[in-house]
Amino acid sequence: MEGSKHAILTQGLTKRYAGDVLALAGVDLAVPANSIYALLGPNGAGKTTTLSILTTLAKPTAGTAEVAGFDVVRQPGEVRRRIGVTFQETVLDMDLTGRQTLLYHGRLYGLSKAVCEKKSRDLLALVELEVAADRRVNTYSGGMKRRLELARGLMTEPEILFLDEPTLGLDPQNRAGIWAYIRDLRAERGMTLLLTTHYMDEAEQLADRVGIIDNGRIITEGTPQHLVEQMGADVLRIHGQGDELMFLDAARERPFVENAVRANGLIHIGVDSGNKRLVEVVQLAGDTGFVIEDISVAKPSLGDVFLQVTGRQFRDE
Ligand SMILES: Nc1ncnc2c1ncn2[C@@H]1O[C@H](COP(=O)(O)OP(=O)(O)OP(=O)(O)O)[C@@H](O)[C@H]1O
Ligand SMILES: [Mg+2]
Repeated sequence: MEGSKHAILTQGLTKRYAGDVLALAGVDLAVPANSIYALLGPNGAGKTTTLSILTTLAKPTAGTAEVAGFDVVRQPGEVRRRIGVTFQETVLDMDLTGRQTLLYHGRLYGLSKAVCEKKSRDLLALVELEVAADRRVNTYSGGMKRRLELARGLMTEPEILFLDEPTLGLDPQNRAGIWAYIRDLRAERGMTLLLTTHYMDEAEQLADRVGIIDNGRIITEGTPQHLVEQMGADVLRIHGQGDELMFLDAARERPFVENAVRANGLIHIGVDSGNKRLVEVVQLAGDTGFVIEDISVAKPSLGDVFLQVTGRQFRDE
């Protein structure tokens, strides 16, 4: 790793597309080697753009990025030799079989025929596609295609694997399967994985660290546990009638309230203990003339973190 403990390091990464779209507005990323890092963000946040720059497919407008210790603009060849990538959109040739897909990819990257054959056998086993290996890809399900793409990304034994939305559109069972492969790659092969996702549970359950990206900026970053703990132990979600702003202001003044925001018709109050504070919060609402119609206690999620930092729900649609 060229003496660097970071597999990926960016500073002030900026990307302006033609038509004056500011896709990245200064992204700083530090991904430790041998870790799983999730870039979590809503549609259009800049996830794919970040990945395109890190994999040398696009050039930054400003800022710098190092991958495996090499500069993505000045040393793109060195970077490419050490990475694998799978894209958000399937880019498989539907007329090839699964095995051919892997063989051709390996040959393209200059591996010998014998090495390609051995590796494709091993990888087809890893992603459990042995039985379907000699069927054409156009007969594969969505989950099988994703697994094949994962295997293809691994043909060149990359130090760092980039996965753009690795489980997009998959059912829960297939998603859990992909997560298991990703965890194994980190644990058994010592790889670094940078994945993008707009699934909060994926980031929460899979990643060692999460960077939440919105409008081309990393708005907060840390271990999932640390991010969630900042929210308080529990979140009270309240629906009711009355002066919400007055209620929110009063709540924020209480020492046990970590944060209080309003979004999509609900008031969200992060507290140190939901069960202990429920009565106090109901009392407080009464004092400010706010009539509670419904209240629930839940453990905070990364969605609550996003809401607190941006003032918006993760999904606004
Ligand atoms: N080639 C391009 N030309 C112009 N604008 C682009 C281009 N690619 C992306 N953008 C814009 O840049 C912003 C970031 O896009 P990007 O694809 O990086 O987001 P994303 O986080 O990957 O979103 P999604 O979750 O939908 O995949 C968006 O506003 C998008 O419209
Ligand atoms: Mg994308």
